Amino acid sequence: MSFPKKADWNPAEILRTSIDPMGLKYRPAVFMNLRKEQPGESRVRRIWFSIQYLFTPPWDTGIPAPELVSTIAQLPPGRAIDIGCGTGTNLLYLAQHRWAVTGIDFAARAIAKARRKLQSYSPALLVADATKLGSLDLPGPYDLALDMGCFHSLTDEGRDGYAAGLARWLRPGGIFLLYAWQPDSVEDRRGISKEKTIRCFEDNFRLARYEQGAGQPSAWYYFTRK
Ligand SMILES: C[S@@+](CC[C@H](N)C(=O)[O-])C[C@H]1O[C@@H](n2cnc3c(N)ncnc32)[C@H](O)[C@@H]1O
Repeated sequence: MSFPKKADWNPAEILRTSIDPMGLKYRPAVFMNLRKEQPGESRVRRIWFSIQYLFTPPWDTGIPAPELVSTIAQLPPGRAIDIGCGTGTNLLYLAQHRWAVTGIDFAARAIAKARRKLQSYSPALLVADATKLGSLDLPGPYDLALDMGCFHSLTDEGRDGYAAGLARWLRPGGIFLLYAWQPDSVEDRRGISKEKTIRCFEDNFRLARYEQGAGQPSAWYYFTRK
């Protein structure tokens, strides 16, 4: 495991991110306008997620998302990518339904678990950073991309890299299914608003459908690649 070099070390930000890796409530005012990636931030976030995968994190339910299930029920099998795939529950469902699957996650432990889960199939599983999607060597292009809970945790800069990379890998007409948390007030730094999400993807994607989530402010976005 490599720690940030001394010159990169920003203890306050690292502390903030380590207690709040997904951009939750505990953002001190001094960081409010600093949604540029801070030195060491993504490394700390990666370490935080990796620690979560020592156990079973709360999101790792083992149940494929009903929104994914109903989406692929209407599609012929093709090529799919799950970005921030965790332990591969949704990939397994796709593979069981004859999709050729790729999963990426920056937590090596999650990818190791996904490898075990999908051992009867031939998935492409990569330990990789979603913000650098465009420069990865992937077996695309893809007909379907899924993201449940990764995009919303990125910085603005990271999201831009992600959106550009996804545009490279999703074929025209392809579907991008995104589940993202939303802030519940102006002060709330969790997630990303509907407007900002649409803006992030508007150059290359069209919003075909939108569903407000229940409970935690959140939404499902159904984008298509232009
Ligand atoms: C809330 S979890 C959801 C995991 C999975 N999608 C699921 O529904 O079970 C978010 C996932 O995104 C991954 N992640 C966060 N930031 C990432 C990044 N920059 N690159 C790759 N993976 C990332 C985390 O390691 C984690 O597995």
